[in-house]
Amino acid sequence: MKITKHIFLLVAIVLFASFNKQDAGIQLQNLRCEMLVNPEGIDVVKPRLSWEIISPQRNVQQIAYQILVASSPEKLANNEADLWNSGKVNTDESIHVKYAGMTLKSKKRAFWKVKIWTNKGESAWSGNAFWSIGLLNYVDWKGRWIGLDRSFEWDNETQFSRLSARYFRKEFQAKKTIKQATVYIVGLGMYELYLNGQKVGDQVLAPVPTDYTKGVKYNTFDVTKLLQTGNNAIGTVLGNGRFYTMRQDYKPYKIKTFGYPKMLLNLDVEYTDGTKETISTDESWKVTADGPIRTNNEYDGEEYDATKEMPNWNKVGFSDSNWIKAQLVQEAGGMFEAQMTENMKVMETIKPVSIKNLKVNTYILDMGQNMAGWLRLKVKGKKGDKVTLRFAETLQSTGELFVRNLRDAKVTDVYTLKGEGQEIWEPSFVYHGFRYVEVTGFPTVPTIDDFDGRVVYDDMATIGEFETSDKTINQIYKNAYWGIRSNYKGMPVDCPQRNERQPWLGDRTTGAYGESFIFDNVRLYSKWLNDIEQAQKPDGSIPDVAPAFWRYYGDNVTWPGTYITIADMLYHQFGDKETIKKHYPSMKKWIDYMQEKYLVNGLITKDKYGDWCVPPESLELIHAKDPALQTDGILLASATYVRLLELMQKFAHLLNKPEDVKAYSKVAEDIKKAFNQKFLNTQKGQYSNGTVTANLLPLVYEMIPANEKTKVWNNIVNKILVDNKGHISTGVIGTQWLMRGLSQNGRADIAYKIASNRDYPSWGYMAENGATTIWELWNGDKANPEMNSGNHVMLLGDLIIWYYENIAGIKSAKDAVAFKKIIMKPEMIDGLNAGKASYHSMYGTIKSDWKKDGNKFQWNISIPANTKSLVYLPANSLDKLTEGGKKIVGLEGIKFVKTEGNQLIVEVSSGNYSFIVN
Ligand code: BGC
Repeated sequence: MKITKHIFLLVAIVLFASFNKQDAGIQLQNLRCEMLVNPEGIDVVKPRLSWEIISPQRNVQQIAYQILVASSPEKLANNEADLWNSGKVNTDESIHVKYAGMTLKSKKRAFWKVKIWTNKGESAWSGNAFWSIGLLNYVDWKGRWIGLDRSFEWDNETQFSRLSARYFRKEFQAKKTIKQATVYIVGLGMYELYLNGQKVGDQVLAPVPTDYTKGVKYNTFDVTKLLQTGNNAIGTVLGNGRFYTMRQDYKPYKIKTFGYPKMLLNLDVEYTDGTKETISTDESWKVTADGPIRTNNEYDGEEYDATKEMPNWNKVGFSDSNWIKAQLVQEAGGMFEAQMTENMKVMETIKPVSIKNLKVNTYILDMGQNMAGWLRLKVKGKKGDKVTLRFAETLQSTGELFVRNLRDAKVTDVYTLKGEGQEIWEPSFVYHGFRYVEVTGFPTVPTIDDFDGRVVYDDMATIGEFETSDKTINQIYKNAYWGIRSNYKGMPVDCPQRNERQPWLGDRTTGAYGESFIFDNVRLYSKWLNDIEQAQKPDGSIPDVAPAFWRYYGDNVTWPGTYITIADMLYHQFGDKETIKKHYPSMKKWIDYMQEKYLVNGLITKDKYGDWCVPPESLELIHAKDPALQTDGILLASATYVRLLELMQKFAHLLNKPEDVKAYSKVAEDIKKAFNQKFLNTQKGQYSNGTVTANLLPLVYEMIPANEKTKVWNNIVNKILVDNKGHISTGVIGTQWLMRGLSQNGRADIAYKIASNRDYPSWGYMAENGATTIWELWNGDKANPEMNSGNHVMLLGDLIIWYYENIAGIKSAKDAVAFKKIIMKPEMIDGLNAGKASYHSMYGTIKSDWKKDGNKFQWNISIPANTKSLVYLPANSLDKLTEGGKKIVGLEGIKFVKTEGNQLIVEVSSGNYSFIVN
C-alpha cells in the first residue's frame, strides 16, 4: 500500500514536472522559412524563420526561444547544431527571426528546430523543418541553354500563334549508390519534368511568369528517390507560356515576346562515397517538336493528338533516333532567381452539374461555377476521333456559348483519340476561365461522369473563413473567393478568360489586402513587387501592367501606386518588413519621379483611368460619359499621392530615415493646401463635383480642414442615401475606401445597406443575376461585351477587408503588425444578427463568432498564443458581462481596460473565450 502510494506520488511529480517544465501542453507548429514550408532552393542566405505556438491554456506568451540548425537530420537529432545554435534568446519574437549562423553556400541543406520558454513553462523541441539553398552564383550553373530556335510546318507564327510543345530527353548513367540528387531547372515558358518516366512534383504551368529579360525563375526539386544506380532518363516538355507568347507578329510595340521555348537544367548527384557529378543540358540532349501537344496557347487553347504519343519517351531505352539534336541557344537574358513563391497546382476538382444536348453531336456542360483551370475528360472511341472543347462564362438565350466577351481568344482544346480503350486527358500548358463548356465530337453519348473541372491556381492555403446571417453577403463572399482564386496565376491577373489576363496593378491596390484574409498570398505578392520593381524604367517610371507583358507606361498615380500599398499590406498583415526595405529605393525613385514631372502648382496633374468603371448612366455603356458621374483625374491623382506619401513616411520612419519623413510630410502638407484651394467648395461642403469618390478620398486621407469635415461627410451620406437611394456609385478607386469610410464615420448601417443590396448597382445584383464570381462592370449583364469579363476582382474594393475587420471584427492593430496585437471589434448593425470568421495569422488561428438575439449578445473568440487582443464588447457595464458563465473579474487571461460609450473594452490574452452580454 505504502509502495504504491509512493509510486503514485513519484509519477505525479514526474508528470507535473514535465508538464510544467518540458511541454506545458505547448506545441510548436507550422515552422516556416521565408514564409514557406520546407522550401527547396531558396536564394536568401539569411532567411527568416517563423513558428506557431499552440496551447490549450490561456495567456501563453513566449519569453525566449532557442533555434538549432544542423547540416543533417542526424546531427539535428543529437542537438549538434553545426550551422547555428541561437542559444536561449530572451524575446517574444516568434515570426521572422533571422538566421544568424554559418554562411550558407549554394546547395547547402539546413535542418532546424526550435523550442521556446513561455510564462506557462517551456515547450519540447519542435519537429524538424528544412530549407536548402539554391544556386547562388551565375557560375554555379553548368551546361548550356538548349532549345530549338525555329518553327515547323505544322506551326503558325502569325497573330493566332500555334507552336507545338518541345520534348527533350537525355539518358545518363549513375555509376554508384546515390545519396542525394537535386534538380535545378529553368524551363521557359513552362515545363514538365520527368525522371525515369515519373513526373517530378505536382506543380502545373510552372515556373511562375516573369519578364524573362529581367529575371528567370528556377525551381529546385529533391529527386533522390526517383533515380537509380545504373541507367536513368530525364525528359522535359516545354510549353510556350508567356515566353513564346500568345500573339506573334502582332502589335509588337505593345506585346512583349521572348523567343522560342528554352531550358537550362542541372541535375546534381552526390554519391554515398562523397563524389559528385552534374548532368546538365548540352548538345547531347535530343529533342522533337513532333509529339502529341500540337499547339498550346494560353488564349486559344491546347490541341493534343494522342496518335502522336511516343510511349516511354521519358524512360530508359526509348529509341530517339528520329529525334534531333538539341540546339544550343542564347540564354534568356534575365538574372537567375530562385522561385520563392508557390507554383500553380490543381487545387480542387469539381464535377459538372449538368450536361445538355444542344444539337446533333453538341453538348453543353455546366460546371455550376465560373472557374479557372481546365476540363479533364474520360473518353473511349476510335483512333482519330476528335473531341473539341470550347469554353465560355455564360450562355446565350439559345443555349449556345456566349463568347463575344472573350474578344479574339479562341479558348478551344482539341483531343484526338488514339483508340486504345479508355483515354483520360487534360491539357498541360493552358488554362481557361469558364463555367460552360461546349463539347463536340464526343464518340459516345457523354455524361457528366466523363468530365472533371480542374481548378488551378497558386498552391497557397485558404486561411480565412467567413459567414454571416445575411445570405446575400455570404453569396458575395463565395463569389469573391472563386474570383480571387481564379485570378492568381503566378501573378495576380485581371481576368482568366479573354485575350488579356494581364497583371494590372490598379486591380489590386486595396484588393490584395482583402484577399490576404482569405488566402496566404504573402509570397505571391512579394514576388509581384519584384516584378514591379523589374518593370521600373531607369528614370523611375512604373507601368500599369507588371511584368510588362503589355507595355503600358502611362505615368498615372493610381495604378503604379499599388507598388507602395501592397508593400504596406505585406507589412501590416504578415509583418514582412524586409520587402519594404528591399523596395524602398525603387518606391522612392518613383515617388520622386512623379513629383518632379507632374507636380504643378501643388497638384499631381497626371491621371489616366479616372474612377474606373463607375455605374454608368446607361446600362449598355462601359464607362460613364456623364461628367456628373466622373471624378476629376487631378483630384484622384493628388489625393492618392498624398496617401502614398503617408505610407512612404511610415516606411521611412521604419527604416530610420528621418530626412525622408520630413521631406514627404512637407510635400503632403503642400498638396493638401493646394488641393483644398482648388477642389473644396466650402459653400456646398463638397469637393469638385461632389461625387462620393471626390468627397470620400479627402475624408479618409484626412485632408479636410476640421471645420469643413461635417459638411463634406453629410454630403457623402446624402449622395448615397438620397441621390443613389442607398446604392453604390463608385468605381475602382472610390470603392477601395467606401465600406471602411462609412464604418469609421459611424454609418456601418449604410455600408451594410450597400453590401446587402440585391438590385442594381451592387455586388448582390451580380449574384441575383447568376454571377458566381465578381464582374468587371456593375452592369456586367447588359454592358457592351468588348470590356465585360465575368471574373474580375477589382470592384471588390475594400469589401473583404470590411467583412473581416468590421463584421467579424478581426483586425491587426495599427501599432503592431501581423496580428501580434489584435483588435476584436465587430460592428453592431441593425438587421445583421450574426457574424463568424476565422483567420489563420502568422501567429495562429484567430476566431470570432458572434450572435445577437434581442438584448443578448454571445461571442466566442480565439486568440493565438503569443498575441494579445483588445476586445470591444457591446455593453455599458461589467454587470452585464460574463465569460464562460462567470463574471470576468479575476479570470485568467482577461483584464478590464475601460468603458467607451456603449462599449466595454477588455484586454484578452491567448486562448478561447465565450462572452455573453445580457
Ligand atoms: C483590365 C482592367 C485594367 C484596365 C485598365 C482593363 O482592360 O481588364 O482590369 O485595370 O484595363 O485600363
